Amino acid sequence: MTLRPVRIAGTGSYLPEKVLTNQELEKLVETSDEWIRSRTGIRERRIAAEGEFTSDLATKAARNALEQAGIEPSEIELIIVATITPDTLTPATACYVQEKLGADRAVAFDISAACSGFLYAMEMARSLIAAGGIQNALIVGAEKLSAFVNWSDRNTCVLFGDGAGAAVLVPSENGGGRILASHLGTDGRQTELLNIPGGGSCCPITIDNAEENLATLAMQGREVFKHAVNAMRRASEHAIESAGLSAEDIDLVIPHQANLRIIDAIVDRLEVSKDKVFINLEKYGNTSAAAVAIALDEANREGKIKSGDHILLVAFGAGLTWASAAIKW
Ligand code: ACO
Repeated sequence: MTLRPVRIAGTGSYLPEKVLTNQELEKLVETSDEWIRSRTGIRERRIAAEGEFTSDLATKAARNALEQAGIEPSEIELIIVATITPDTLTPATACYVQEKLGADRAVAFDISAACSGFLYAMEMARSLIAAGGIQNALIVGAEKLSAFVNWSDRNTCVLFGDGAGAAVLVPSENGGGRILASHLGTDGRQTELLNIPGGGSCCPITIDNAEENLATLAMQGREVFKHAVNAMRRASEHAIESAGLSAEDIDLVIPHQANLRIIDAIVDRLEVSKDKVFINLEKYGNTSAAAVAIALDEANREGKIKSGDHILLVAFGAGLTWASAAIKW
């Protein structure tokens, strides 16, 4: 079977209006702007309004991506939403997005791969389009992490933010821009390092444990940090090599936006120059599945990616999961 090349026809993003600064967090927990900036690089993050859900953020980002791609919602055949903060456990957030967009033809489902979710979604959609099963797909990374953060835990509450990013994938008819290679990985032996322990079937929230904040993010930060650096370096090398490229060929690296020190460590190991790395985490913090998608859209709209450029997307998250994609724009 001949596989069709697949390209990104449009990107979009949406960030909620409300800004939460490090200084404001100083009033909530025992922390300081200096600690947060020096340990993570984050200055502020966005917080969704009450009544504004993950599907709302996703829908707004999706509309921007569809507009740029010149595709109507009614033409979309597949919607995948990557999220760990769904509107409801079931149905999938993608179903709400389908309804809000009016994308009646689309098959819609979610995937849960934490911060790697957008790149997992990209590979699922790419494979289906490449095999000829569908003509287009809308992929979205969207999170309302503020609803799943323990606002009295300084180890985690300073790190996360809300937002959404999206992309539209179509066959690359002229054989120019295309997704060249991707690499996905999982290590299920490390589920304890980063999770939301309560609210699922193994630990429902009951009147007896309601005070324990079990439906919020828990993380062993130092351990996650080490795994993140190693896994993202290996995933990057894998995608670059599978694409038949070398590190010097990469014009822009768009890494998961969790921590500036993690990004610096990967860039050093990959021997890519720092001016080729796109960073926006100072404005948004870690938006999990949305982070790479938002960064891709900002880089695209700021004119940082030109036709023919080689870009590398790489992410890492709970699971543990990791993912990368090498793309010719
Ligand atoms: N303000 C002040 N002090 C703090 C804060 C804070 N907000 N948070 C922690 N500290 C303290 C700790 O209590 C600790 O104090 P102690 O030494 O007295 O015990 C000290 O600072 C150092 O803590 P560390 O955990 O060693 O700090 P580290 O340098 O590792 O930075 C961080 C912590 C930022 C969490 C880092 O480990 C990290 O970024 N980890 C990776 C996170 C990540 O990549 N996640 C990706 C996936 S997210 C997802 O999938 C949803």
